Formats: sequence, structure tokens, C-alpha cells
Amino acid sequence: MKTIKVGLVGFGTIGTGVAKLLLLEKERICKRTGCDVQLVKIVDLDTTRDRGIQLPEGMLSADYHDILNDPEISLVVQLIGGTGVERTIMLEMIEAGKNIVTANKALLATYGEEIFCAARKKGVSVAFEAAVGGGIPIIAAISESLAANEIESIHAILNGTCNFILSNMEEHGSDYAPTLKEAQRLGFAEANPAMDVEGSDTAQKLSILSHIAFGVHLDWKDIPKVGIETVSGTDFRYAKLLGYSIKLLAIANRLRSENGAPDKLELSVCPTMVKKGSPIAAVSGAYNAVSVIGDAVEHSFYYGKGAGELPTASAVVADVIDTIVGRTKITFDTLDLWNPEKPAENIEIAKAADVTGRYYLRVMVEDRLGVIADLADILSKAGISICSCVQENSNDNIIPIIIMTHETTEGAILGAIGSINQLDCVVNETVRMRIYG
Ligand SMILES: NC(=O)c1ccc[n+]([C@@H]2O[C@H](COP(=O)([O-])OP(=O)(O)OC[C@H]3O[C@@H](n4cnc5c(N)ncnc54)[C@H](OP(=O)(O)O)[C@@H]3O)[C@@H](O)[C@H]2O)c1
Repeated sequence: MKTIKVGLVGFGTIGTGVAKLLLLEKERICKRTGCDVQLVKIVDLDTTRDRGIQLPEGMLSADYHDILNDPEISLVVQLIGGTGVERTIMLEMIEAGKNIVTANKALLATYGEEIFCAARKKGVSVAFEAAVGGGIPIIAAISESLAANEIESIHAILNGTCNFILSNMEEHGSDYAPTLKEAQRLGFAEANPAMDVEGSDTAQKLSILSHIAFGVHLDWKDIPKVGIETVSGTDFRYAKLLGYSIKLLAIANRLRSENGAPDKLELSVCPTMVKKGSPIAAVSGAYNAVSVIGDAVEHSFYYGKGAGELPTASAVVADVIDTIVGRTKITFDTLDLWNPEKPAENIEIAKAADVTGRYYLRVMVEDRLGVIADLADILSKAGISICSCVQENSNDNIIPIIIMTHETTEGAILGAIGSINQLDCVVNETVRMRIYG
């Protein structure tokens, strides 16, 4: 039986799960690869912390050169976050001719082109199933199982921290700040949650999915995004009243053009009102879900744990197996990912201002005569038609006015919000959300 030696860089949450599967489920992995897969070296800055798994003597090291300079290690699982030294280590491993498995979406979303060009030059593969949706096999689904389709749209919940916070706000009627604190206490949010709650993590994952599904090359920072910090308990109260849930949705939507002109691709990350009863509205807690529409398959839906030690390790070790049996190389050579020389597909990124949709607005106002007339006047001048407007009877002086619009453009809604925020009676920035379903 052929022996494959594997090195692991990063013995944190996911690295520990991967070590557990590779060491404790060795027989299973041998059966699925037809090879004796040996984890021979683990590198982490901290070699003293107890990770809850007994390692053979001499396996742990603090120096990644122990993997880099071992010619017998042909496959490296790199599980450290960030885009600094992580990029250097990955490029050095590729240059040394090693196949890579990673879960680092930030690195791929930022340096995908450099990494894949280097891998192509060296004839090695880079697998990254765990980089999007954790344990959900969405990369394989889009790149292999849905290969007969032209993808029409992706609507996804890709950040467990945000979904945990929003689900808890919905369940307990609480506001954002105390719910974030509770999520941090329970380990569902980092001490510095900015990348998650501002939507950057979701935008990085959406850029990877869009690259695979639509062939577009884009900088994840160019994806328009709104975070969840502006969502309040009040929004959930009205969402319930109107039959919606609120989710941080990653949206990639093909807009068909006529006469051979390139299709447009709408991309965004924003808190979205999702109609109750749809599968994505039912996704709660730290779970992820991806809804994909293809021209042949129609609607398909993928749901599961988007994070965590063993769910994410499940995707990482699947990549290890695929790399060993040669599936990764076949798929990614065929897809020719992040190749600047590959001809562009007939699709271009739509300008955010031109994208159309229905909107929810929450305008916080002083309760005085003529407020609704002022709001209606601004919206009418912007060409925006009101679908419904709710103002509850209240003894408070400051009240929310909730407006649901008919279809309009993002440009028109932003222009109208700019004017609404200038009104004397408006006390806070107006909150807007897209409506889906
Ligand atoms: N956690 C999840 O559920 C999840 C899900 C999907 C994808 N991912 C991705 O998977 C990757 C790993 O995530 P994680 O949650 O396992 O992170 P983690 O718990 O922070 O583990 C990373 C480990 O790598 C070590 N490390 C950092 N720099 C190193 C270096 N230069 N050389 C050797 N070791 C180094 C860290 O040591 P120190 O602690 O001493 O810095 C830490 O033990 C990230 O890219 C993340 O985005 C994570």
C-alpha cells in the first residue's frame, strides 16, 4: 500500500479536529484512499497546550520548516487564519511542491490569484472546501455536482456568528448589543467580532463562491455590504408582524441581458427580510445554508454546520482524501480557478445603484403632524412606490415608521434615505433592508 505523509500547520480549533480524524479514523481514511495516510508532523506556535489528543512523541513542532524541508511530506493542511505570514508559508509550501488543503477564506479571497498561479506553475493542487460553509460541501456541489447548470442565483447564510445573534434577537426580542455580549460569552462570537458582524467574512466567502459559480474575478472589498449592527429588536417586532425573518444574506444574482450583451451579476451582503416559510428563513442559530438556483436543477438547498471543530474538519479531511485520490487536481485543473489568462465569461458585475429590489425602511421620527406626508413626498419624488406603511399607536415622542416599498433601485432608495435623514423630525439614521421572497 502506498504511503502518503501529511503535515499540519495550525493546531487550533480546526487543526485539532483534523488531527483527531487523521489519527483516530486512520482505517476509514485508508479504506477511502487505498493509501496509508500518515499524519507525521504538526506545527503550532504553542507546543505546550493540551488539545485533548495524545500525539506520538516528536510529532509537534513550533517551526514550519520541519514540514517545508521534509521531502517525504507531499500534502500540507494549513489551518492558520489571516493573510500575512500565512500567505508566505503557503507560497513556500507550494514552491516546495506540496499539495495544499486550507480553510482560510481570507487568504483565498485576497490572494487567490497569486496562490493558484503558483500552484499551477508547480503542478500541485489547492483544495479549500472548508473555506465556505464549514462542513457543508458547497464548493464540491457548485464545482462538480452542478456542473451541468448555468447558475442563476445564490442566496446564502455564510456566517454562523451573525446568524446566531440574529436568531437570538428574534427569539428573545432583544437588541443587538446585549445579544452580541451573550454570543461572546457562549463562544459564538470573537472578542473582536468586526470581520463577522460588519459582513466582511461573508463577503470573502461570497467572492469565492461567485468566482466558482459565475467565473467572475473580483476583489471581495468591492462587494457592497451592510453589517448587522443596525438591526434592532424593533425590526424583529415588525418583521414578525409582516411575516418575515431577518438574515444576513449573501446574494449573487444573475441578471439576464438581451441581444448577446453580457449578463450582469448582482452581488451584495446585507441584512435582509426573508419571507417566513422559505427554507432559508428557518435557518437558526450558528447554522449556515446556501440556496442555489441552476437553470437545469432549479432550486437546491444546502444546510449544515458552518463552523466548529469536527464539522469543519469533516470538509478538510474530505479534501485530504480528494487530493490523495486525484479528484482535487482534476476538478481544479478543469475549472482553472483564479487564472488571469482564462477568457472572461459573458457576465459583468452590476453597479450597486442599478440593482433592483423591494425594501424595508425603519425611520425613527418625532411624532408630529405631517411626518408621513413628508416621507411619502420624498419617496414619490424618488420614483419609489410604497407598498405598506405602519405607524403604531404610542405614547412615546420618538416612534418608528415602517415602510415597505415596491420594486425600486438601490440608487433610488439610497438617494431617498439621504433626503429622509435630512428631515428635522428624523432622529436617527434610517435603517434599510432588502426584502427577499
Ligand atoms: N473555527 C471555525 O469554525 C472555522 C470554520 C471554517 C474555516 N475556518 C478557518 O480555518 C482556519 C483555522 O481556524 P481555527 O478556528 O482553527 O483558528 P485557531 O483556533 O486560531 O487556530 C490557529 C492555530 O494556528 C496557530 N498559528 C498561528 N500562526 C502560526 C504560525 N505562523 N505557525 C504555526 N502555527 C500558527 C495558532 O497559534 P496561536 O493561538 O498561538 O496564535 C493557533 O493554534 C482559519 O483560516 C479560519 O478562518 C475556521
